[in-house]
Amino acid sequence: MGAQTHHGEIEGYTYAYQPTRDPAPRLALLLLHGTGGNEWDLIPMGEELVAGAPLVSPRGRVNENGMARFFRRFGEGKFDEADIDTRVEELSRFVAVARERHGLAHIPMVAVGYSNGANMAAAMMLMRPGLMQGAILFRATMPYAPREFPTTTDGGPVLVASGRVDAYAPPERVQELVDTLGDQGRPVEYEITGPTHGLTSRDMELALRWLNRHFGGTRPSM
Ligand code: MLT
Repeated sequence: MGAQTHHGEIEGYTYAYQPTRDPAPRLALLLLHGTGGNEWDLIPMGEELVAGAPLVSPRGRVNENGMARFFRRFGEGKFDEADIDTRVEELSRFVAVARERHGLAHIPMVAVGYSNGANMAAAMMLMRPGLMQGAILFRATMPYAPREFPTTTDGGPVLVASGRVDAYAPPERVQELVDTLGDQGRPVEYEITGPTHGLTSRDMELALRWLNRHFGGTRPSM
């Protein structure tokens, strides 16, 4: 982990920030951890995905029996959609302030989420289509019941990487997410990258290749 990683708070979110080592960074990453994780979890993944990129990594504000999450749920797979809407607004404000504070307002920012963090990133892409310039969703499911989502002409691309058998992300719900993101007018790539909810080396390979194709200047494709 980078020696200069900062720790701070914005809009009630505790977050880790790792500044760029690149004088002209092409891309910043917003890292969103899974249930029970924290702001440090995905920093190594961010470093591997885009060497030297600025990394912004908040800790989810919802406390579920001591585990941090990005939105409330009533039970497994039963999401509190009113709370998701509130958290989308809250996290959008966090992103705007963090970008200003760290001089990242004028470079593209891609969300990278795992599990609950991927569901949060999916909700942000669906409800605030222009906020992030792209998203990598590891083991996400459709966070909402059907509703009208805003369309976009400049919406960033999304990569969805799923498990073949994943109790947290059943295939038909993942397909619904992929279709809905596509219906918004954005390029969506979808691949089954592992047997279950855990990440595999294929997830990283795919994400590196996808980043290279859409944002260039990252590591060579594999
Ligand atoms: C969620 O609640 O967001 C998903 O079920 C994944 C998880 O358990 O974090």
